[in-house]
Amino acid sequence: MAAKLYDNHGREINYVRMAVTDRCNLRCFYCMPAEGIDYVPRKELLSYEEMHRLMQVLSQMGITKLRLTGGEPFIRRDIMDFLAAVSKLGLEQINITTNGTLTAPLVPELKKLGIHSINLSLDTLDKDRFYEITRRNEFDKVMHTMDELLRYGIKTKVNAVVMENKNTEDLIPLAELARHQPIDVRFIEEMPFNGAGSHYPVLAWNHRHILDHLRQHYPEIERLPDPPSSTSANYRVPGFKGKIGIIAAFSRTFCGTCNRIRITPQGMLKTCLYDEGIFNVRSLMRAGATNEQMRDAFLDALNHRAKDGWEAERNRNFGSPVSESMSTIGG
Ligand code: 5AD
Ligand code: SF4
Repeated sequence: MAAKLYDNHGREINYVRMAVTDRCNLRCFYCMPAEGIDYVPRKELLSYEEMHRLMQVLSQMGITKLRLTGGEPFIRRDIMDFLAAVSKLGLEQINITTNGTLTAPLVPELKKLGIHSINLSLDTLDKDRFYEITRRNEFDKVMHTMDELLRYGIKTKVNAVVMENKNTEDLIPLAELARHQPIDVRFIEEMPFNGAGSHYPVLAWNHRHILDHLRQHYPEIERLPDPPSSTSANYRVPGFKGKIGIIAAFSRTFCGTCNRIRITPQGMLKTCLYDEGIFNVRSLMRAGATNEQMRDAFLDALNHRAKDGWEAERNRNFGSPVSESMSTIGG
């Protein structure tokens, strides 16, 4: 077993989120402008060989958990071959975040590869509103993916971004998914990662407001203990099969136990969602770095890690508030 990896605040780091592409077939307004974003040229993306080598190095350093994100991970060609290769590295968990539009036919293969859980991004159960939010008419495919995940018994979480004046009527119908099915439904505070910067001066629908709203409908809702490094505060409505979670992604109440790092599609290491990137792993590899040199670069980055998302945001260069698209970060 590899040594454990710690940052300069004594937090164990065992989890990497890797965005395998910045491309997406949806245009969720909280993530991208309608016209999309300027996608990264293909040669600037980490290749599968580079991602595999990176995971090898990281797994030897103490990373045990991988999440693939995007963009939409299943839009990248041959992603299933990459998954098959990376599933042989001996990690404890591989999870995937997907919009669910292309996922349904792949579910049997994902099950076979031992994928631990799938997070489905889904902000409404209303077909018209799905179109309003994502600017694409793909709702039925996402619901089919959900059915397939349940049928094959892959742990399924639904992630819904809570948006003022957009989908707050959907929160209870979404929560109801957890009543009869083993689905965890998680409500995420909206963050300013939409390609244009902040929508609001204050976030009205913050984690407290979301909880108050849930309490009104489910007075008996109860808080569950936090698993280690959980970003969601978890609740159960008695009788429900799945849990309900609230993720204070904007309020950043969970940074104290943060166990994760991120790799962007271009190979930039982020030690916080809110930082601008610490160093580029792809450049390092393409400049001929040895595994040892890569390890040293990670150790150095983790020795200078911001203590929370507020500090990481303050450390961004002056004049560059958060405005990038979530699809270039991976969430
Ligand atoms: N605020 C909060 N969550 C977001 N996501 C994408 N953009 C935002 C945003 N601006 C979520 C998606 C997906 C995950 C990768 O990040 O819904 O579940
Ligand atoms: Fe695509 Fe996810 Fe961004 Fe929506 S939130 S545009 S599904 S990457």
